[in-house]
Amino acid sequence: MKILLVGGGGREHAIAWKIKASPLCTRLFMAPGNPGMAALGETVAIKADQVAELTAFAVKEKIELVVVGPEDPLALGLVDSLAAKGIPAFGPSREGAMLEADKAFSKRIMRESLIPTAEGKCFTSMRDAINYVESRNEPLVVKAAGLARGKGVIVCADPVAALDAVRDIMEKKIFGAAGNTIVIEERLDGPEVSLLAFVDGRTAYIMESAQDHKRIGDNDTGPNTGGMGAFSPAPLLTSALQTTVEREIVVPLLDTLNRHEIDFRGVIYAGLMLTAGGPKTLEFNCRFGDPETQPLLMRLQSDLVEVLLACVHRKLDRVTLRWDQRPAVGVVLAGEGYGWKPDDQVRRGVEINGLDAAAALPDVMVFHGGTAMKDGRLVTSGGRVLCVSALGDDLAQAKKNAYSAVEKIHFPGMQYRKDIGTK
Ligand code: AMP
Ligand code: GLY
Repeated sequence: MKILLVGGGGREHAIAWKIKASPLCTRLFMAPGNPGMAALGETVAIKADQVAELTAFAVKEKIELVVVGPEDPLALGLVDSLAAKGIPAFGPSREGAMLEADKAFSKRIMRESLIPTAEGKCFTSMRDAINYVESRNEPLVVKAAGLARGKGVIVCADPVAALDAVRDIMEKKIFGAAGNTIVIEERLDGPEVSLLAFVDGRTAYIMESAQDHKRIGDNDTGPNTGGMGAFSPAPLLTSALQTTVEREIVVPLLDTLNRHEIDFRGVIYAGLMLTAGGPKTLEFNCRFGDPETQPLLMRLQSDLVEVLLACVHRKLDRVTLRWDQRPAVGVVLAGEGYGWKPDDQVRRGVEINGLDAAAALPDVMVFHGGTAMKDGRLVTSGGRVLCVSALGDDLAQAKKNAYSAVEKIHFPGMQYRKDIGTK
């Protein structure tokens, strides 16, 4: 089977690695891919958000399955565009992707489904938003409703900070058009876990649990990022809690999507906060998490392509997955400035050394995120450069294995958290 994987980050490298391992895959194309992925198949110079070009390529190459990694092409309707040409794709339709791409829509769906979430309100007028903040005397969270690379959320200590956040997003447009609509909600408290499920439109298969570390600094300090590392399983998400989440969140969500005739065949990712009042949903994503996917897929022993096809053909109820019982940890190595500076100011183009020595260690995979080839050398090209992932007999061992590999890798300005897997 000819497969096209869309995307070129650490998550897609992990997905490509599992696709390549499947006997069902005869040819793997990746658009755009990255230098790490290039070893697994054929990279194609089309960007992940070039919907028309990707569709034309899939038609020309008679692709039999398209797997979409990132949210942008999903929100732009890539799956709808492929469907119009009869090409099967793993990932939701444009409408389904609104669960992530429009936090106001997502909030409405949660409310309609009686899914536990923070109390909140949506605003398109800054005056109304300011009046609302002034009427609340409690800690608030202000969110840009649109896509902002996981950074469009400002958690505010007090109402003054919330007023600043409203102005920053709606007046100064710090998140661009993503902040034309905002959601203001109560601030919840508790540890966070991610729950990912394969979905075929009717059936959901809850994956092993995972947890990511969103803040740039050790002990969860500094600004939020797309994720500085992750581990699986997350001991916090006990099987009892998992059952609660399935019953209270995943099943009602699927019912509502079905009622609205929204076609969702892909991954639903629920960002949860475990509050004193039970698990509540902070957000839904419409795809695999990055970097959760890297440690998670290291633990998947089943054929990933079989599962992806089961989702696409609505046969997920016939699938059981095998997981390695050993935990996995993934540590993100980021470029200088990542997390602190706007993306375009993060240092790029510096040479990366030591990858082969790191990857040669047992039970270790080094997944590329922001890397590029320049004059025959591997250089950094993005904020999150690599995700060094390792299995171990227990979490402590997995952590040790991952950090032993990290120590072999060097590039100028490299930053990473030292506490991934400790939560
Ligand atoms: P989101 O993109 O909506 O998941 O938000 C990003 C991060 O902001 C989450 O991982 C939380 O750490 C934090 N956050 C979002 N919503 C809330 C909330 N209602 N209360 C407290 N923290 C929140
Ligand atoms: N790790 C957070 C995300 O993928 O959105």
